[in-house]
Amino acid sequence: MMGYVHLIFLSTFLLVSTTSETFDALEGEALVIKCPRWSSSVKVTWYHTNTNKIIPAEKEGSKMFSLDRFLWFLPTSTEDSGNYTCVIHFLNNRTKSFNMSVRVYPNKQGVCFPSQIRYPNDTGRGKIVCPTIDNYKNATIIQWYKDCKPLQGERYFKGEKYIFINNPGKEDDGYYTCKFIYTHKGNVYNVSATRIFISKAKHSPLPPKILFPKDKDVIEVELGAALSLKCQARLGIKKQPIAVVTWDVDNISVKNLDLPRFHEKTHFFEGREQEYYKETTLHITEVKKEDLQANFTCVAMNEMHNTKATVTMQLKAQYGKIYDAYVIYPRSHTNEASFVEYFVYQIMPDILENKCGYKLCIYGRDIYPGEDTASAIEKRMQKSRRLIILLTHQLINCKEPAYDQHIALYNALIQNNMKVILLEMETIGTYEKLQESLRFIIQQQGTVKWKEQHTVHPQSTNSKFWKQVRYLMPLTLKSSYSDNAG
Ligand SMILES: *[C@@H]1O[C@H](CO)[C@@H](O)[C@H](O)[C@H]1NC(C)=O
Ligand SMILES: *[C@@H]1O[C@H](CO)[C@@H](O)[C@H](O)[C@H]1NC(C)=O
Ligand SMILES: *[C@@H]1O[C@H](CO)[C@@H](O)[C@H](O)[C@H]1NC(C)=O
Ligand SMILES: *[C@@H]1O[C@H](CO)[C@@H](O)[C@H](O)[C@H]1NC(C)=O
Ligand SMILES: *[C@@H]1O[C@H](CO)[C@@H](O)[C@H](O)[C@H]1NC(C)=O
Ligand SMILES: *[C@@H]1O[C@H](CO)[C@@H](O)[C@H](O)[C@H]1NC(C)=O
Ligand SMILES: *[C@@H]1O[C@H](CO)[C@@H](O)[C@H](O)[C@H]1NC(C)=O
Ligand SMILES: *[C@@H]1O[C@H](CO)[C@@H](O)[C@H](O)[C@H]1NC(C)=O
Repeated sequence: MMGYVHLIFLSTFLLVSTTSETFDALEGEALVIKCPRWSSSVKVTWYHTNTNKIIPAEKEGSKMFSLDRFLWFLPTSTEDSGNYTCVIHFLNNRTKSFNMSVRVYPNKQGVCFPSQIRYPNDTGRGKIVCPTIDNYKNATIIQWYKDCKPLQGERYFKGEKYIFINNPGKEDDGYYTCKFIYTHKGNVYNVSATRIFISKAKHSPLPPKILFPKDKDVIEVELGAALSLKCQARLGIKKQPIAVVTWDVDNISVKNLDLPRFHEKTHFFEGREQEYYKETTLHITEVKKEDLQANFTCVAMNEMHNTKATVTMQLKAQYGKIYDAYVIYPRSHTNEASFVEYFVYQIMPDILENKCGYKLCIYGRDIYPGEDTASAIEKRMQKSRRLIILLTHQLINCKEPAYDQHIALYNALIQNNMKVILLEMETIGTYEKLQESLRFIIQQQGTVKWKEQHTVHPQSTNSKFWKQVRYLMPLTLKSSYSDNAG
């Protein structure tokens, strides 16, 4: 019964099949070809198409032999070029045959792929599968080539049987050759197979994602004050044809509201992997009481989908700020104190607190590990006028940014009321590896750079470094209670 069902399935399959496959090979390499359709319940015989001579199973020393679905050339020679037929014998005595063409190209110096490639072109998003490798048991790829040159670089992810090109573009079009090793009865053979890759992805949408604000966020505001609400969304890879990031107030687009108090500004930028971001800021010149009852919804949309995040406003609690700055620095996980820790615990308090009269909030000194850290950090940060972030390689390379770093950037970017001071303690060079949000801040205001000569006389308040920092800090309590523009 089972066999019968199988048979019907196979026959219907075969009636529509008119496959004629071609295989390109290099002289002296191994070649294994396979009959296009097969199941374990059928018998397959292989013939030379022109002479109808059967190709037998493997015997001692045979270079060409067949077994079930497969035909081996170990190794190939140019005389093997020609047509081969596999015949499938069904249980009901019907047969079905397929013609396959083999072309063996002379292995000349400097030639790394056959002049004619007849494996199907890979037209796509970046995955290039090594052709025919499935015909070879236990094959291992030893090298990939593009246009005969070995492939190298972080853009290429190598899988077992394929490579994946990150964000392929026109420059990636070309001939891709995989070279692998095949072992049969202890003999080792090279095999190379080439296909053409043509990049397709001009842009690929990702499901739109709003990075900030978070849905249901409550923003603290002051009546009469100006406010900027930023919404940042990732919309895909490369510039998108449909890319909307916009603000609605109670479901009405700001553009249609026509209120002079509200206006929007949008800009876009690309991420490290060509991710396409759009950011729209709703500027409110003066917050009014009615805003406290309204829903502010950021809508992000691309050709794929849309998504929303709604925030509301509430009056800022009346407290005085108690810290002038909250300090964010990379924490060493060893017992040895780093220069940065010495700087944070000794140099910075000595100059900013003792000499200039500021009050700093430093994790490890003012917040103790073990305290309910998350809420402690959030509270202190809210009570700080500035955020000081020490940029070092450790901070940048850290896979999981510390909790306070998350919150800090979030507050700085969303609430727009935290000013950030970036101290570049080590030469970072290019900022490419930095988090998007940090790069955004750097782009807007730059960094204050610590120079080595400061290390020699770090205490000198006159150094350019400390002057720049003081300029960015709020006015001290001694001189004024107000928060200067910085
Ligand atoms: C193989 O078959 C194709 C058509 O299927 C034919 O054009 C070609 O000449 C044949 N090659 C040989 C060597 O017989
Ligand atoms: C297939 O052929 C064999 C001998 O040629 C015969 O005995 C058998 O009955 C045939 N089977 C079918 C299903 O026709
Ligand atoms: C295979 O090729 C032979 C000889 O060229 C031809 O007679 C036969 O019809 C072909 N078979 C198929 C299935 O194309
Ligand atoms: C594959 O790409 C080459 C080069 O662009 C082209 O000449 C050939 O027609 C393509 N083949 C297929 C099957 O699309
Ligand atoms: C394939 O590899 C496995 C494990 O590496 C080994 O046990 C097996 O004998 C190999 N088969 C062949 C045909 O070489
Ligand atoms: C396989 O190719 C490498 C060069 O890529 C060559 O050194 C080696 O001799 C080849 N092996 C065989 C068995 O042809
Ligand atoms: C704001 O959104 C909430 C939750 O979706 C809804 O219940 C409320 O009616 C909305 N308010 C206005 C003014 O649209
Ligand atoms: C806005 O839309 C949401 C859901 O789409 C709905 O719950 C809310 O009542 C609407 N508000 C107004 C003022 O239409």
